[in-house]
Amino acid sequence: MTGFTFAVQAPSNIAFIKYWGKKESQIPMNPSVSLTLTHCKTINQFKVIPGNGTLNFTFHEESNSTAFSIKIQKLFALIKTEYPELNSFDFIVRSENTFPHSSGIASSASGMASFVYGIFHVLQQMKNVNRTLLNQKISYYSRLGSGSACRSIEGPFVQWGQMEGFKDSSNDFGVISENHPSLNNLCDSILIVSKNPKKISSSEGHRLMQQNPYSPIRYERAKNKAIDMLDFLKSGDFSKIGEMIEQEALELHALMLTGDKPYFLMEPNSLHLIQAIVEFRKNTLIPVYFTLDAGPNLHLLYPAQVKSEVLNWIDQLKPKNLFLDVIHDEAGLGASLL
Ligand code: DP6
Repeated sequence: MTGFTFAVQAPSNIAFIKYWGKKESQIPMNPSVSLTLTHCKTINQFKVIPGNGTLNFTFHEESNSTAFSIKIQKLFALIKTEYPELNSFDFIVRSENTFPHSSGIASSASGMASFVYGIFHVLQQMKNVNRTLLNQKISYYSRLGSGSACRSIEGPFVQWGQMEGFKDSSNDFGVISENHPSLNNLCDSILIVSKNPKKISSSEGHRLMQQNPYSPIRYERAKNKAIDMLDFLKSGDFSKIGEMIEQEALELHALMLTGDKPYFLMEPNSLHLIQAIVEFRKNTLIPVYFTLDAGPNLHLLYPAQVKSEVLNWIDQLKPKNLFLDVIHDEAGLGASLL
């Protein structure tokens, strides 16, 4: 094989049932279920030339010394131990996110998934890998980079974590969850409340769950909620989904408050916005519900049919200065070649 170039993309995802608490190598303490996004994504330009298995990785033209690049180098070394044929090439990878730098949106999921997707595109040229197994492998290695990244390979809904009665479920990789067609065009408008770096990283949050007195009950509840969520996704019952994602988001943030080393990641404006969304829904009966990641930004989930009403409302809210920016995203199908 001589040198060649190509580009890949992988989107971010937003968890409906959260992964919060893990063992070594991102083995989750409970199953999680997420919606794959479309517009918030990482694009990786790959240049592959004959060589010795080196990787030159830059993120938004920053050099190889950032924490993320170091993680990518580690992951690459791990993939090469299973696939030593990669040592016949040198890789030059230019990585960019479509969403603004420091917008408060976690980029490790899309970043890891997009990198691993690209590496497996190269491997595919050398070996014929079965499509289903290929996605599992890509998800598996993405997980080793960052847990939630394993849910960014496919879409629109992905579950990750062993679940009784679900024979394909696994702690090692994400698998597609069946969904009602009415959910294929779900929208997610992300209200950016703060662009400051997180006070506590996700990795630290997962670690603190080991000492949280409520962990055992949390893991049990999350397992049951994941099973219920899969039912709601299948039947397309959006009000049930909405009620559950709101309760789940608040439970995630309650866990942060209840450990031996309490902390909170919401901002006062996150709470103001939550109140405003609940009020808006009550007054208009428009099905729009919120969820939060481990940060202050709000994700508003709603069906495409009510998009214009929700966008109007977001516009009317702007003068109150409760959020800095808004990013409109929607359900997507995962990573792909560009
Ligand atoms: C709150 O996947 O970022 O977003 O595995 O340590 O990289 P690491 O953590 P990460 O954790 C994500 C936590 C979450 C919930 C979720 O996405 O399920």
